[in-house]
Parts: sequence; structure tokens; C-alpha cells
Amino acid sequence: AAPPCTLVIFGASGDLTKRLLMPALYNLSAGKLLPEGFRIVGVDHNENTDAGWRQSLGETLQSFTTDHTAEFHPDHIDADAWGFVRERLHFRQGDFSDAATFKDLAGTLHGNVVFYLAVSARFFGPIVEQLGAAGLLKQADGAFRRVVVEKPFGSDLASARALNATLLAQGDESQFFRIDHFLGKETVQSILALRFANGLLEPVWRAEHVSAIEITAAETIGVEARGAFYEPTGALRDMVPNHLFQLLCMVAMEAPESLDAEAVRDAKGRVLAAIRPIPPGDAVRGQYTAGTEFGDVVAGYRDEPNVAEASRTETYVALKLTIDTPRWAGVPFYLRTGKRLADRVTEIAVHFRPPAQSPFRAGPGADPAPDLLRLRIDPEQGMSIGLNAKRPGPEMRLGRVVAAFEYGDFFHETPSVGYETLLYDCMTGDATLFQRADGIEAAWAAVEPLLQAWRDAPVAFYAAGSDGPEEAARLLARDGNAWLPLG
Ligand code: BG6
Repeated sequence: AAPPCTLVIFGASGDLTKRLLMPALYNLSAGKLLPEGFRIVGVDHNENTDAGWRQSLGETLQSFTTDHTAEFHPDHIDADAWGFVRERLHFRQGDFSDAATFKDLAGTLHGNVVFYLAVSARFFGPIVEQLGAAGLLKQADGAFRRVVVEKPFGSDLASARALNATLLAQGDESQFFRIDHFLGKETVQSILALRFANGLLEPVWRAEHVSAIEITAAETIGVEARGAFYEPTGALRDMVPNHLFQLLCMVAMEAPESLDAEAVRDAKGRVLAAIRPIPPGDAVRGQYTAGTEFGDVVAGYRDEPNVAEASRTETYVALKLTIDTPRWAGVPFYLRTGKRLADRVTEIAVHFRPPAQSPFRAGPGADPAPDLLRLRIDPEQGMSIGLNAKRPGPEMRLGRVVAAFEYGDFFHETPSVGYETLLYDCMTGDATLFQRADGIEAAWAAVEPLLQAWRDAPVAFYAAGSDGPEEAARLLARDGNAWLPLG
């Protein structure tokens, strides 16, 4: 179990707390991973009591204890596991910008504390400053004081730098845990195991054998009720420097010297620093119009709540980038993400080069198709390799076969909403799955040319339920390539 500590949640009445943090704590409790001396203090501006907070979280827990992407799931709640969390919940009313809130906390907190900023990004800096001013980030007598910072971490390079500076003025880098929830996904963590624990894969994971890599995070949902957040944000800021780049790091990094947090983050940092500035001509921004999603007619982005009638915010991004390292010389990385696409798929596809010499090259219809390895991250979780094999029959003709596995066929899955590992790691002090200041800044630096170029740029339209805009297909066609179909 984790060491005894107090988890202070700013944003106790918010969505993240009920959707993800409580279900994750409940699952950790069911796995007996929480310490006896564990306490949760929730802070928010509304009036509430311990009993009231416990009651409302208990009511919502049931609906959120499965994968957070799934809808209501009437799972049975284990009374002991929830009881353990429930009796440790305490509510304190307080304004995040009022020094009194923090003075009050300072009077009651002792020993190890994790402060979780489950609040809107505009409060990140101010809360950390108040924590510092109240002396709450001082680590005395071997006790730790850590801060978990949610996303979005900045909205461009300058704001990310400024936020890092604010944080690091109040504490040491090792005290800050910047979340990217993609790193909480088991399948993302397992990429390192596949790459570096297998002699079959490790040697071919380079330009000599790989012709292109595709990274896709396609969603079927629209912007939902988040128009006010999404309008000034867009798909590039929302998904690329954080989630997609984390996938990119996992797939493109050199082998770290060890699995130690600093070694892994150093290796990731080197990939991000080696991304060649992306020319605006190598990127496409799209926006969904009305269309059909699984048989239902759905509205276009401009008709969503809190979205401007003539909005030019992108809900889709496709881009090509190159990584200036010997391993990846000349290999295009194609990234795409968007809302209201034909299917929900998060995957990495590695396209291999054909054999240098092959007797199958000769003869019509015998050209081998390139091997294709797909790392399926969401919602399917596993891996498949498309290979060439001989079709049965008297003639020597090639046919396509797929060798595949799903994690669930081999491993017993533990219930997870994706935040269990992240919370547990923060309590135990393992920063491997969190972003370091330099990593965040390198990622923003890589997309900065696009942010600049896209200030007043038009969007390409795509119908809801499609594979994205035509322009994205043309981006790959230029290289003689094509995206894998989504549907
Ligand atoms: C979030 C973005 O960080 O990630 C959302 O803000 C997006 O817009 C979500 O829908 C996707 O995450 P997941 O885990 O559902 O693939």
C-alpha cells in the first residue's frame, strides 16, 4: 500500500472528482492499495458538510466505476471498499483565491500531503502560489508535499513556460506531477514492454525497416457540453502536444537506460526535442458539419451549445512530422485526431518496408503487401500484425493473414477508470507517468509554428461520421500513402 498521506482535492464538487477520482480511489481501496492512515480533504467554494459530500459521491459512484468511456453500468459497489474511502472523506468550504482557505488548511494538515488540482486551468497558478505562501509545500521531517496538476497545462509555449515558472518558484520539480491521462492507460504503458522486451521487435523498430508510422486518436463524440472550453482551444491544443505526443514518445524514443522516472523522461524529452518544426503545409485542420453517427443525425460543430455561428475552431487535426534522429531518418509520422469521426479508435500503426530482396517481387499479383503492425490502445486493447502467407492450392500465390492478441485473453484485468495508477504513483512518488517541465515545453515548442500559422486560418469541413476531411487524405497521398480506414 501507499504510505500514509492526506489527499487534498481542490474542486471537490467538480466533475473530475466524481467521475474519475472517487471511482479510482474506490478501486484502489478494493485492491487494498490505500494505507490505513489515509485521509481525503475536499475543498470547494460551495457549502457542504462531510455527510453531504459523502452522500453525493456515494450516489454517483455507481455510475462511474467502470471505464469512464462506458455509459451507466450498474456494477455492484463493494460496501467495504467504499466504506474505507467514505469514512475518510472530509469537506471544507473555501475560495481558491482566498488566503484564508490555505491558512485554514495549514492548521489541519500534517505529514505527507498530495494536493490535487481538479480545477479549471486558470486556478493552477494561483492555487500553487497560495500553497507556497501558506508554507504548505515545505517538506519537513521527511514528509512529502506533492501537487498533481491536471490539464490543460498552458495553451501555448509562453503560457506553459510561465506556469512552470510559477510552480517551480514555489517548490522543487520533484514535487509536481503533471497529468496526462493517456499515460494512465495500460496499453500505452505496455508499448515500452512490447518494444524493448522482445528481440523480435526491437531490432526492426527503425528507419531501415519502417516506412511510416500512423498515430490515430479518433472519437465519435462531438464537443458535447464543452463548447466554452473548446472554442478557444481546438483539437490541436486539446490533443496533440499532450496525448498524441505521449504516444509518439512511446513509439519513437530510444531505449531508456532503465525504467527509472528520470531515465524514461530524459528519453522522451530527446524525441520531442528532435521533432523538426512542422511546416503549416504539412498539417490539416478540419471541423465537423452535420452528419450521421451510427444512424443518428447529429449537429455540426457550429450548431453546438456555446459555439460561435461562424467558428473556425478545428475539431480535427492531421499532420505529418519528422524526427531528426538516426533511428527515424526520413520516416514520416502521420498523426490525426478528431471528434465525430466514423469510429472510436486509438491506435499506432507501424508500416514496414518490403523485404530488400524477394522472389515474390516477380510475377503478377504476387507483390507482397507491406507488413503492418497495429498497437490497439482503445477501445480494443491488443496488437495485430498483418503478414503475407501462401494461399492454399497448387499455385504459389500470396494472401493476407493477421496474427493478433488481446490483453484480456492473457491477463486478468483489474477494474480501472484510468486514474488508479496515476494516483497510486503520485502517493508512492513514482513520476515516470507524469510530465516534466522540460517535456511539456518541448511539446509546445514543436506545435508553436502551427499555433501561429493557424491564428486566422480557415478550416476544412468534414461530415460527422466520416473519416475526416479530404485534405487529410491528400496530405498522405502526396507521399504515396493512405490512412488506414476508421470504420
Ligand atoms: C481529453 C480531451 O483530454 O481527452 C477530450 O480534453 C478528449 O477532448 C479526451 O475527448 C480523449 O480521451 P479518451 O481517454 O476518451 O481517449
